[in-house]
Amino acid sequence: GSTATLVTGMAGYSGLQQLLLGRPAFAASLKPLAVPPLLGGESRDGIRVYDLNLQKGTTQFYDGMNTPTLGINGSYLGPTLKMRAGDTVRLNVTNQLGQNSTLHWHGFHLPAYADGGPHQIIKDGATWSPQFEVKQRASMFWYHSHLPPVTGPQVYQGLAGLIYVDDEETGRLDLPSEYGVDDIPLMLQDRTFDDDGSLFYSGMMMGVMGDVMLVNGSLNPYFESKSQKLRLRILNGSNARFYSLGFSDERVFSQIGTDGGLLERPIDVSRISLAPGERAQVIVDLSDGRPVVLRAVSSGSGPVGSEQVFDVLRIQPDLERARVAPLPSRLVTLDQPDPAQAIGTRPFVLGMGMTINGKRMDRNRIDETVRLGSTEIWEISNTSMVPHPFHVHDVQFRILDRNGSPPALNEMGLKDTVVVNPAERVRVLLSFTDYSDPYLPYMYHCHNLEHEDTGMMGQFVVTA
Ligand code: C2O
Ligand code: CU
Ligand code: CU
Repeated sequence: GSTATLVTGMAGYSGLQQLLLGRPAFAASLKPLAVPPLLGGESRDGIRVYDLNLQKGTTQFYDGMNTPTLGINGSYLGPTLKMRAGDTVRLNVTNQLGQNSTLHWHGFHLPAYADGGPHQIIKDGATWSPQFEVKQRASMFWYHSHLPPVTGPQVYQGLAGLIYVDDEETGRLDLPSEYGVDDIPLMLQDRTFDDDGSLFYSGMMMGVMGDVMLVNGSLNPYFESKSQKLRLRILNGSNARFYSLGFSDERVFSQIGTDGGLLERPIDVSRISLAPGERAQVIVDLSDGRPVVLRAVSSGSGPVGSEQVFDVLRIQPDLERARVAPLPSRLVTLDQPDPAQAIGTRPFVLGMGMTINGKRMDRNRIDETVRLGSTEIWEISNTSMVPHPFHVHDVQFRILDRNGSPPALNEMGLKDTVVVNPAERVRVLLSFTDYSDPYLPYMYHCHNLEHEDTGMMGQFVVTA
């Protein structure tokens, strides 16, 4: 790979915007995509143990420019935790940040004490060691700090990482699955850098939005693909920006997975939308050998003038490894969501002033109580002026309808985060199984981290 020097964001609009805003246009060379190291854990007495250190560090995003950051076992972001369905895992999380934090396993079905939400504070200097069984389907999940009102700033500085879960059903499929080679994670995070190279967190209550794109912590990344079929697992790990993703030549690609697992069959798309917290797995065909750029058009999160185009990844095919196997036409089997199984409908109104059902988060108040073993419909309506990605802990749910119409084909999989647009009413079907605790709640909230930090969150318990 040749290295060229670019002005940051030259291919998008951010270079120009930086000039207009009077910020220096730092030099940033085109660099190979950073791929987070895999951490498989160590097997001890049949338990897979992962040691994670929350730490402060310094990262060079721009050449010769030191940026103070936070990370897990490193200076920015954390390793990709590799887990297998059915494993029992223990995560030893040690906090060396000099401030309190938490670490939440986003998308995981687990006991409330292991969830890593606002009630599982890890004090500075302490170690927290949750243990649980991996009950997920194969997919990509993630972990991040979750301590309002500092979730936004802590994630912004780097407290996030990815989790790959494998299972038998997916292992049998002939999908690209060599990590970092033909199976690539992409964590998308928009950031703004200050004049001195530090990350600039504006604290804007409507959502903090950056003017450059970091992908797995790399700025201006490229990737040389040896494979004709490239599997991308994409996370919108941004605090507030929504993205519509597609390729520079508008090529069609296949979406094979949603937040919590694979779809029943690949869906052909030319664009996908991801709000903060959402993930997608896609397969892109590079057999024509042409370089192509994955691009993100951001509609912002609400404020006017936040529209922007980001070059996410330049992909350079270098096809020494021919991959001829066609994509399987059938991937996995999912139950058909059946609303008749629900014992009732629970309404949630995302309202003005960062409220849910007229309330802001109070960690001493339980907002909802659901019964262990029950299936419910949650009806989420948005009466505010901006879209909100609604996320529920502990469950993977299915979308029943949006304003009465069935969801798009690529929303018919397992979801833990769903966008609810202004004036929209989205119904989802969820089942609460395995774990109950009458006192310790799980969260539901908007995944715009600044909305969440402002109080757009509620608490539910599962009771036996
Ligand atoms: Cu990704 Cu409650 O969080
Ligand atoms: Cu979560
Ligand atoms: Cu929101």
